[in-house]
Amino acid sequence: MTFPNTQATVYNDKVIRQFAIMTVVWGVVGMLVGVIIAAQLAWPQLNFGIPYITWSRLRPLHTNAVIFAFGGCALFATCYYVVQRTCQVRLFSDKLAAFTFWGWQLVIVLAAISFPLGITRGKEYAELEWPITILIAIIWVVFAIVFFGTVGTRKVKHIYVANWFYGAFIIAVALLHIVNGMSMPVGPFKSYSVYAGVQDAMVQWWYGHNAVGFFLTAAFLGMMYYFVPKQAGRPVYSYRLSIVHFWSLIFVYMWAGPHHLHYTALPDWTQDVGMIFSLILLAPSWGGMINGIMTLSGAWNKLRDDPILRFLIVALSFYGMSTFEGPMMSIKTVNALSHYTDWGIGHVHSGALGWVGMITIGSLYYLIPRLFGRKAMFSVKAIELHFWIATIGVVIYIAAMWIAGVMQGLMWRSINPDGTLTYTFVESVKASYPFYVLRLIGGLLYLVGMVVMLWNTIKTATAGRAAPVSIPAPAIAAHA
Ligand code: HEM
Ligand code: HEM
Repeated sequence: MTFPNTQATVYNDKVIRQFAIMTVVWGVVGMLVGVIIAAQLAWPQLNFGIPYITWSRLRPLHTNAVIFAFGGCALFATCYYVVQRTCQVRLFSDKLAAFTFWGWQLVIVLAAISFPLGITRGKEYAELEWPITILIAIIWVVFAIVFFGTVGTRKVKHIYVANWFYGAFIIAVALLHIVNGMSMPVGPFKSYSVYAGVQDAMVQWWYGHNAVGFFLTAAFLGMMYYFVPKQAGRPVYSYRLSIVHFWSLIFVYMWAGPHHLHYTALPDWTQDVGMIFSLILLAPSWGGMINGIMTLSGAWNKLRDDPILRFLIVALSFYGMSTFEGPMMSIKTVNALSHYTDWGIGHVHSGALGWVGMITIGSLYYLIPRLFGRKAMFSVKAIELHFWIATIGVVIYIAAMWIAGVMQGLMWRSINPDGTLTYTFVESVKASYPFYVLRLIGGLLYLVGMVVMLWNTIKTATAGRAAPVSIPAPAIAAHA
């Protein structure tokens, strides 16, 4: 199908349409797997004794699908959209952009095959075996060429701040992926990390934390800096603050990784460095959150009848919440209670469902009608419905995990006067059961919301002919 959009001669929207659609599709798939593993935690017999669908194999499938397939496609789509509009120039190369789309989908399919087969490097968020890791590195370099090539050929002097965040994300992820991906292959499907022992752990969590910092945060902040002002119809609250936000965030994130390794064999001083930088991280994180939310100052009334804006602003609220919680959890004494418990899972999903999920959903609701030349999404009522189901779903999910997590931490450390443990581990598992069922309900609601979005997206893409859009959208930088 062709879309008679005169912008198409100026901008390459085809690749954005492809990535945008696949974001919604992979969102449904990744979250469905999340719901399945949530159900397996409540009722372990749900693996039916089949090795391919045991929890241990589906869990990395879930994390990779939601982070790299759902989140990744959203980042490609929005990055390609934002960089063209703010630089007022077509993508540097259509062919290379198409290569990133098909390459990325191939990686996702290979992940979906290899994880159920039990093929894994065993490093969290970097589980894919070495041939796929190499393929990712190639795609990423091509992505960098397309992005920086476009910025380099821009028609406006200024580089809008969203591009800074996307640029940092592309460079940092390349660095993290290549350093943590260093392995010694012993066959086509098996390799071992070139690092050993505590060094391996340190490199892994330098990677893991910065995957959070640059994949799940910096790039989504790029999204925030473009789509919040656009949807609100106002310039960014403070452009100066956005620059301070950028430099402080990217400087501080890199040092916080060791907070994942408190009370391990890692030298104490490194754990302390991790803790201190995590506490400092609160400041840039909240600076960015305030900058985003205050963009609405003077226009708060828009929240009343604009469900897309509501998604974006609630996302920022969850961003603020998880970046307050994270620094608290990095304090060693707090971590002594929270580590290994479901509190961590609650924290992850307040960031993942609340921040990453909602900022993506809001941005895509802005993007999809424009990509298909429509005035609005097929059903605004369905967006409204999606907003409420998703919000209630997140709240149930994270509240259940917080309660379960604190309870587990307290049960595990409770000691009788004679020094023996008050509770066995199994007793804590039994006490967690109702919260696992609640989490499943919360997750199921969030998934239903994504299915509603998929329906709305298909309807928007296929309803009627595309209405021509004649003027290229003005860059935000112009009025920032
Ligand atoms: C319907 C929505 C979702 C459900 C039901 C769900 C469920 C789950 C479950 C049951 C786990 C395993 C928990 C455990 O190890 O005890 C998990 C882990 C995880 N999920 Fe989700 N999830 C959902 C959406 C998402 C999204 C959208 C993201 C990211 C954008 C995400 C990121 C993660 C991560 C990073 C982990 C690993 C956490 C850790 O190791 O601490 N999830 N999820
Ligand atoms: C100021 C910002 C943040 C800080 C300082 C922070 C800190 C922490 C801490 C201390 C842990 C627990 C480590 C452990 O006990 O194992 C953690 C886990 C985690 N956080 Fe955050 N967090 C922040 C923001 C976020 C955001 C916004 C997200 C998601 C979008 C996120 C995703 C995660 C994930 C996925 C894990 C689990 C890692 C794992 O064990 O697999 N964090 N974070």
